[in-house]
Amino acid sequence: MKLWLVLCLVLIWVELQNGDCQQLKRRKDVGENRIRPGGKRLKRPLKPKEAGGRGQSLLTQVLDKGRFLRLGQSTSLTPGKNMELRCKGNSIGWSYPTYLDTFNDSRLSIKQSDKYSQLILTSPSAADTGPYSCWVIVCDGTECEKDHDRSYASYIYFTDKDNLFVPSAIHFEIEYLRPDRPAVVPCRVTDPQAKVSLHREVPPEELIANETLLTYEPTKGFVLQSPSPEYQGVFYCKAVTKGAPQISTKYQLLYVEVPVGPPFASLEAFPDSVTGGDNINVTCTVLGEPEVDISFTWVYPGQDFRPVHIKTSWRLVNRGMGYITRVSQSVLTVEDMETIDFGDYMCKTKNQHGETILTINVT
Ligand SMILES: *[C@@H]1O[C@H](CO)[C@@H](O)[C@H](O)[C@H]1NC(C)=O
Ligand SMILES: *[C@@H]1O[C@H](CO)[C@@H](O)[C@H](O)[C@H]1NC(C)=O
Ligand SMILES: *[C@@H]1O[C@H](CO)[C@@H](O)[C@H](O)[C@H]1NC(C)=O
Repeated sequence: MKLWLVLCLVLIWVELQNGDCQQLKRRKDVGENRIRPGGKRLKRPLKPKEAGGRGQSLLTQVLDKGRFLRLGQSTSLTPGKNMELRCKGNSIGWSYPTYLDTFNDSRLSIKQSDKYSQLILTSPSAADTGPYSCWVIVCDGTECEKDHDRSYASYIYFTDKDNLFVPSAIHFEIEYLRPDRPAVVPCRVTDPQAKVSLHREVPPEELIANETLLTYEPTKGFVLQSPSPEYQGVFYCKAVTKGAPQISTKYQLLYVEVPVGPPFASLEAFPDSVTGGDNINVTCTVLGEPEVDISFTWVYPGQDFRPVHIKTSWRLVNRGMGYITRVSQSVLTVEDMETIDFGDYMCKTKNQHGETILTINVT
């Protein structure tokens, strides 16, 4: 075990104080922390565990004149000035804010050379604020994988005083509140020093963050630990540094009540009794979480022999009290029923908790 780690553990016992270990570690990792103009260190929320905590970070920023800065947990850079990151090794993987991939941004380029890999982002802006990481790829023959012990990450803020909030392509975002997991109002900032508050639009009200239920993390936004229906509504964040306060995008929080388990499905045939030559619609309906796609698989008597139409659709419904549910439906239509079409129609639906199989007999 490294000496500083041992010291840290001892210090934790003695002081039971946050931050001391961080300070110690930062001092050890030369250049990891940026010294602010006032000579004060940035006070940041502690991250649970830095990826690849072992040894020194291999992730560096290339400064002018061939100088390098080893990047720590977070870094603040100036927008507009091209950024070059390097990671030592002859086979390196990278990750960067997904937004850069979504827009297939030509400002981003990655080059691998014998000794290091280079990530260049030209004219970065506030929107490029986010986690950047690199890792060593180890190969055994043709099988390659990420070496988790040699993975290094830095959250990079492109601090822009005109964009205290990381700009979002969407001006009105919907966030779902679920009883079983924390909810996030993702108003991330470009300056970790900004003071951020959360506000409800109607009735106008500021929600006071506290250590337990509602916390603010500059890299995430407001985290609501145990969401309940009372947090529904339209919210926005307000950030202040030195100048005038700035307002974020608006967020609509919707409460979702979802049965935890395999899809909650039902199966119906209309009409419920048919004779040869009739048409029939067999409808499979699933109630579920708003953004979860449901896939339907049908097994029916005329499979492979008879043409059928299958139409799948979904819509969001408000089930009172603002509870939002997604209703997904697959309708299998058989026209001009023949003898072969009579029998069992089976609808299979799946989610991460399991599979639901329903059967209806058409006579
Ligand atoms: C992204 O851009 C590259 C180069 O401009 C191009 O080759 C590639 O097909 C693009 N990918 C997508 C998904 O648009
Ligand atoms: C924490 O803040 C939330 C939201 O404002 C509030 O509902 C809750 O009562 C607070 N908890 C404590 C322990 O102050
Ligand atoms: C089956 O559904 C389609 C589309 O909703 C509808 O046009 C048709 O009349 C229905 N057929 C029967 C037999 O209910």
